[in-house]
Amino acid sequence: MNQETALKLLKAGENIFLTGSAGAGKTYTLNQYIQYLKSRKVPVAITASTGIAATHMNGMTIHTWSGIGIKDELNASDLKRMHERKYLREHLEKTQVLIIDEISMLHAKQLNLVNQVLKFFKESDEAFGGIQVVASGDFFQLPPVGKQGELNRDKFAFMSEAWVEAKFRVCYLTEQHRQSDSVLDQILNAVRQQNIQLQHIDTLLQTRQQTHNNEIVTRLYTHNMNVDQLNQRQLEGIEGKIKRFHAVMEGNEKLLETLKNSVRAPEILELKIGAKVMFVKNNFDMGFVNGSIGEVTGFIDDEEQGTLPQVKLKDGSSLVVEPESWSVDNEQGQVLASFTQIPLRLAWAITIHKSQGMTLESAEIDLGNTFEKGQGYVALSRLKSIEGLKLIDFNPQALVLDSLAVKADARFQQLSKEAEQHFCDMDLSKQHNAFIRRCGGTLNTVDIARNERKLQQQVKAGYSQNTLEETKELFEKDYDIEDIATERQLTRSTIINHLGRLNKEQKLNIDRIKPEDDLLDTVRKAYKKLQKRQQADDFTEDGTIKLRPLVEMSKLSYEQVRLALLFIA
Ligand SMILES: Nc1ncnc2c1ncn2[C@@H]1O[C@H](COP(=O)(O)OP(=O)(O)OP(=O)(O)O)[C@@H](O)[C@H]1O
Ligand SMILES: [Mg+2]
Repeated sequence: MNQETALKLLKAGENIFLTGSAGAGKTYTLNQYIQYLKSRKVPVAITASTGIAATHMNGMTIHTWSGIGIKDELNASDLKRMHERKYLREHLEKTQVLIIDEISMLHAKQLNLVNQVLKFFKESDEAFGGIQVVASGDFFQLPPVGKQGELNRDKFAFMSEAWVEAKFRVCYLTEQHRQSDSVLDQILNAVRQQNIQLQHIDTLLQTRQQTHNNEIVTRLYTHNMNVDQLNQRQLEGIEGKIKRFHAVMEGNEKLLETLKNSVRAPEILELKIGAKVMFVKNNFDMGFVNGSIGEVTGFIDDEEQGTLPQVKLKDGSSLVVEPESWSVDNEQGQVLASFTQIPLRLAWAITIHKSQGMTLESAEIDLGNTFEKGQGYVALSRLKSIEGLKLIDFNPQALVLDSLAVKADARFQQLSKEAEQHFCDMDLSKQHNAFIRRCGGTLNTVDIARNERKLQQQVKAGYSQNTLEETKELFEKDYDIEDIATERQLTRSTIINHLGRLNKEQKLNIDRIKPEDDLLDTVRKAYKKLQKRQQADDFTEDGTIKLRPLVEMSKLSYEQVRLALLFIA
């Protein structure tokens, strides 16, 4: 099926499973559909199974959006508590279309939970509460990370009850947009058909001699350990002095262990000028997202925060990277544990898991020790042509696909063909309009054109034009800091900063977020002590106290101190 027919079916409002080979343009087609819905003011939730995959559409993880987090099951009281969160309620009740990209990495259990949550919030027994669900992905790519020993058949989303209930119409995209080169395209197709010939392996092995421009090559490895080792070696290999950044950790030790395992910024980050780095958090205000690649070009001394790295991004822009916080909170939004670190890690090499969804110019790939079906296919299919490939190591197991996925894929192809024959010449414009109406969207052509223009401007402006206004709007809707941060995909410290400016510049009343008196007192006392101590290091140029000494003295988190400072004249 081509992208056009898939779009025609998407617009008709049925639940759709959009699949096809890597590079067929699934994510591209989703983005087209998202623009179509947004310009018609249909509330659409844009999500993916992983953070990096979500960034290809400016979305968020399905776990965050649906509020299921890392839970395996939800009981009645969990649901009740979720319902009390205004943010979740407004989002889930409002949404008319749910998009989930990279569905192959979403666990069956989690898809069931999303189904359960939507039924609950929409008060409906229909699948996913009756909204349109668009699942997209390719089951030949990586399966979900599950428990040790768990079989793929128990993990694949298409084996879940929710999948059966959704009665997905299958659209199997058959064009190829990533690989312009027929050699690589043929090899990848042979992998998909599990019909790999000696000549294919030969061609792959020949790329071992390939020489690459070191500047742009990405190295893909199967294991984190190899990725870390290679990054460390590369760092040692470049001239210059190492700068070390130590994470600041606070709170419950056990929770901190969990945080440390999930945050991809290291506890001790070592950098040098010239180091290749990747951002591990989104910050649309600053212009980077989880997965953005750049290079350290220098270190500057920040008044408040000490030494900070300066990073040049691929698009040529340059920015100073400030520490960000990750935290575990309780139901009341109080921080139980937090991890604050510069949101970077070394990126000469990344794991194949992290590369899913990316398009790469050139890559060195190690397929010597693959441990997951589909791993070799995902790695090789990131490239546009065979010239971009240098294979470092290889074992034939690397190209094996999951046998259940092979069966399912054959069925998906067949279903898609049937849909195509049935619909390709049919005019569905009536259904399209009926669906927009059902979702409460607009069909007014003047409005649509205006919205389209606005969306284009937003892309150009990089989303930061009205950043204060957007924060203000949500704050006035009674959202708390956490919810504004989630909604806007910004950090909480950025939101606190916005609220401070809104309070100063526009006299916005922010008493609602005022910390307890005890906490204010602690910060006030620390401030006075530091003023008395008169150490030059503690002060900024304009004579105020820096954040770091305040945090150290008060033993509170950066966030708590930041918040308190808004209320201490
Ligand atoms: N119709 C199109 N016109 C122009 N470029 C396209 C089109 N469709 C896809 N592309 C480009 O081709 C590349 C691959 O597309 P995309 O990332 O959407 O594929 P995918 O099916 O999502 O792959 P994966 O399974 O790896 O996620 C991207 O660079 C995308 O911008
Ligand atoms: Mg994609």
